[in-house]
Amino acid sequence: MDLTHRPRRLRQDGIRSLVSETSLEPSDFIAPIFVDATTDERVPIESMPGHERVPVDEAIARVEEVRETGVEAVMLFGIPESKDPEGTRAWAEDGVVQEATRRITSETDAYVITDVCLCEYTDHGHCGPLAEELRGESGGGGVPEGTCGHDGAVSTDTMTVDNDATLESLEKIATSHAESGADMIAPSGMMDGMVGAIRGALDEAGFKGVPIMSYAAKYESAFYGPFRDAADGAPSFGNRRHYQMDPANAREAIREVELDVEQGADVLMVKPALPYLDIVSDLRREFDHPIAAYNVSGEYAMLHAAAEKGWLELDEVALESLLSIKRAGADLILTYFAETVAEGLSAGS
Ligand code: PBG
Repeated sequence: MDLTHRPRRLRQDGIRSLVSETSLEPSDFIAPIFVDATTDERVPIESMPGHERVPVDEAIARVEEVRETGVEAVMLFGIPESKDPEGTRAWAEDGVVQEATRRITSETDAYVITDVCLCEYTDHGHCGPLAEELRGESGGGGVPEGTCGHDGAVSTDTMTVDNDATLESLEKIATSHAESGADMIAPSGMMDGMVGAIRGALDEAGFKGVPIMSYAAKYESAFYGPFRDAADGAPSFGNRRHYQMDPANAREAIREVELDVEQGADVLMVKPALPYLDIVSDLRREFDHPIAAYNVSGEYAMLHAAAEKGWLELDEVALESLLSIKRAGADLILTYFAETVAEGLSAGS
C-alpha cells in the first residue's frame, strides 16, 4: 500500500508525548471544600465518596491535605449553624466561611476562593430573598402556603427571588469574605448585575485587587444533586430555572457572559463542565479571559457509582474527563477529583 498520509506515524510510543496538544497540571485545579458550622467532627458526604464536611477547626488540616497533592487553590463552601429567610449568616463576621478563610489564609499558602451565594443560608434554599409579595402572603418569612405541593412543584410565576434585594446581600457577603482574607470572590447566584454590584462594593471597601471569578454561564442542572446534599442547599420548593440558565441555550451564554465581562469579571466560569463543553469552547473563542469550568458533584458521583459497580476504571475516566475539559478550552478546573488526579499526575501516571 502506498499511503501518503499515515496519522499512525505520530502515535508511536516515543513521539506521542511530543505531539500531545493538551497537558494537565495539579496547578490547573481548584479543590472545593465544605466547612460546616453544625458539626465538630468530619462528616463523610455519602453521594460524593472521599469528600467530607469539615468543622472550622479542621479547615486548615483539610487545606493542607489538598496542598500536599500539589493543588494550590481551594473553593470554600459554608454550611451555617442556622438559616433564615434572608440568609443573614452569609455575611456574619463570625460566619463559617469568614472564620475558615481567616484561619486558612493566615496559616497556609493556599489560594482561597470563596463561593458567594445565599442558597446554603436561606431557610427556603433559594439563592436570595424571595420577592415581597410572596413573603407578604406567607405572613412574613417562609414559603407561601398553598403554592408548595407535596411533590415540590411550584408554579414559577407565583414566586421569585428578588434580584435587586439579593444584590445588596451579595455585596455584604463579598466584602465580608474579602475582609476575612479571601484571595478571590466567586459569585454563583446568577443574579442580573451581580458582578458589577460586587465589584463596586469590593472597590469601595478597598479591595480593588481582589479578582472576581463569575459563575458566568451556570445552567439549571440536575447534576448538582449530590452538592445540594453536601451543602444542604436544595430549594425547599420549586427549582432554580428562573435564574439559572436553560440547558437548551448556547447563544444565550455568550450574551450572559458578555454582561459579566462588561461588569468587570476577571475569570469566566461554565458550570457544569462535561455536558457543556460546547459552551466552554464557545467562550474560549469569544473571550480572552481565563475560562474556568466546574466539573460538578453529579459528574463526580456518576463516575464513582459506575466504578463501584466495576463498570468503569475510576482513575482513567477521571483523568480523561479533566483532560477533555482542558482540551475544550478551560484554563482552570474546579473538581472533586482535584486531589486524586493531581496525585496521579505527580506519580507520573
Ligand atoms: C450555589 C452552588 C451550587 C453549586 C455550587 N454553588 C448549587 C446550585 O446551584 O444548586 C453546585 C456545585 C456542584 O454540584 O458540585 N451556591
